[in-house]
Amino acid sequence: MLSPFSWKNFLKTANIGVAILALCSNFQSVSADLPSSERFDLTTPSYDLFRNKALQDSTVQQGFAFDNTNRRLFVAQRRDGSSETSGDLCITQLDFDGNYVGHMYLTGFGHGVSFGAQAEGSSTYLWTEVEANSNGYGKKLARFKFTNGSTLSASSSSLKKLQPFSAATEHTCSIDPVNNRLIVRYNLSDGKHIAVFDLVKATNGDFTNPLANFKHPSVNTKSATFQGYAAYGQYIYLLTGTSYDASGSVVNSEVTSVNMNTGAVVQGPTLTKAGSTLSFREPEGLAIYKTVAGEVRLFLGFASGKAGDRRSNLFYKNVLI
Ligand SMILES: *[C@@H]1O[C@H](CO)[C@@H](O)[C@H](O)[C@H]1NC(C)=O
Ligand SMILES: *[C@@H]1O[C@H](CO)[C@@H](O)[C@H](O)[C@H]1NC(C)=O
Repeated sequence: MLSPFSWKNFLKTANIGVAILALCSNFQSVSADLPSSERFDLTTPSYDLFRNKALQDSTVQQGFAFDNTNRRLFVAQRRDGSSETSGDLCITQLDFDGNYVGHMYLTGFGHGVSFGAQAEGSSTYLWTEVEANSNGYGKKLARFKFTNGSTLSASSSSLKKLQPFSAATEHTCSIDPVNNRLIVRYNLSDGKHIAVFDLVKATNGDFTNPLANFKHPSVNTKSATFQGYAAYGQYIYLLTGTSYDASGSVVNSEVTSVNMNTGAVVQGPTLTKAGSTLSFREPEGLAIYKTVAGEVRLFLGFASGKAGDRRSNLFYKNVLI
């Protein structure tokens, strides 16, 4: 692999740090193996799934995820009474009309911007960030069974933790439930990166062969506030924007699609006016779901309502090109 380039001579003249960097970037640049696929047309309208539904706790919703096999929906939010940086989360299971089904508390996990749900038989296993750092974002990933009514601590010895990139200070994830892939967004010293793994291999703790691995593109969005991501096939969708309280009642929610084989933006940032009549309206989370009839949908989440009684809202786009 290393010839005709002489590694020995290189090490003589360069410091080890540079050598390690060169190795890392070498490994990272080889993966762009996602088969070509259709992508959502971001300029088409969004439709309602539900509006103004209560979660278990009263804070704004964060990310949400579908177990596409068992057809379940889970929504994350910060636990009532916990600080912004505690990493304490509540995960509420809703039915597809937005009615409460169950919930689970996670102590010291992270912010909840994005997570995944994976079927294992009739159970759902959640993939979340875990071990909140001083900013309240998870350092690693965890995979555990959703258990109604329970509280799981980040320090629990039974919790399976995973660290796809040992140098990363933050990890979050999302699942492409149609193609069974784990999408990991992680932070290195030069900023955010995104990698894609086969979900079965990732479940076995094998992160050696990412199907794609690229630097997060810098996108000129109206708002710099990152609010979620979801991938379907070759493309990832990035959500940005703030609440009406923060934007001065201006719609600034945008979705950008990125080709994960190249790391280049393909469409957007495209303004989305989904739920523009909601009160407060903070964009919160993206997820992919395939209906029983076979329609693949890109879901967009928004928080609405008053402080102390925030509500969950989901919309979707369904036009592929
Ligand atoms: C989940 O637990 C709550 C009580 O904590 C209960 O009200 C609800 O019915 C349970 N859901 C299911 C699906 O069993
Ligand atoms: C990403 O990691 C670098 C290096 O560890 C750190 O300086 C930076 O603050 C991190 N960024 C975020 C958003 O955590």
